[in-house]
Amino acid sequence: MTKHHPGSAYFVELAERLGRSYLRYSFTKGSDQEVGFLLELLRLPAQARVLDVGCGPGRHSVRMAQAGLAVTGVDVSPRFLELAAETARSVGVGASFFEVDARRMPFEDEFDAVISLCQGGFGLMGGDDSIVLKRMCDALRPGGRLVMTAFSALFEARHPRPGADFDADAGVVHERAQIRDEEGAEERMDMWTSVYTPRVSELRWRAASRSTACRAVPLKTVGLLGPRTRPRGRWNPGRRLCQRRAPTSAIRWGSIPS
Ligand SMILES: C[S@@+](CC[C@H](N)C(=O)[O-])C[C@H]1O[C@@H](n2cnc3c(N)ncnc32)[C@H](O)[C@@H]1O
Repeated sequence: MTKHHPGSAYFVELAERLGRSYLRYSFTKGSDQEVGFLLELLRLPAQARVLDVGCGPGRHSVRMAQAGLAVTGVDVSPRFLELAAETARSVGVGASFFEVDARRMPFEDEFDAVISLCQGGFGLMGGDDSIVLKRMCDALRPGGRLVMTAFSALFEARHPRPGADFDADAGVVHERAQIRDEEGAEERMDMWTSVYTPRVSELRWRAASRSTACRAVPLKTVGLLGPRTRPRGRWNPGRRLCQRRAPTSAIRWGSIPS
């Protein structure tokens, strides 16, 4: 029997338990390549404004700030935001981090690019994914671009996760995910992930049905990614030389009242 999405930002508790151990998951090991891909794709000028929705511990935000972009990361998890700010400080870059639910982001026409990767808000909110998508579109300035990831419904149907329930009507997979905290203690926690068909039209339709602003945002698939067994490539130390360094005081971390 499928356990339905609670409608709340359930990830807060999960993130609290995971803390730093989140960064032990293999899917977080491709951050350099992912940011390299984004920079190549977006080709943003220095100091362009980027919003990272569901930024987590900031593995993309911080690297994009290191590349000279003005990054704002938002997340519902205070623990992850704390880690993001700590990492930014440790590498000496400025970035802004705010605690806010993606469904209630107040941004309007402000960002040159919005990213939401590895289900950062979009993909974790069940039916409310549409609201997250609308808020992300609202945050973009005219001509700005949105890059986000979405799990494949077809992959899920073809390779069901053991013990997971796939509600095909809702397009949501519920599982009791086994997580491990920083001390190595294991626990099972509920997790809901939305899945989408690769047909871009599905996303476009969902967006357009909620927002006229979204009609102006052309969505196209820029890549289909699968899990990698081991990270590819290495951090290029030469890249650090051309980082734009900002004083650590430029790190802002706060909350946006809902
Ligand atoms: C799987 S993590 C991805 C984090 C990061 N984007 C990455 O690629 O590592 C999902 C993130 O989305 C955040 N999140 C979940 N629901 C959210 C919501 N409604 N609003 C904002 N952030 C949310 C979680 O707290 C978590 O940091």
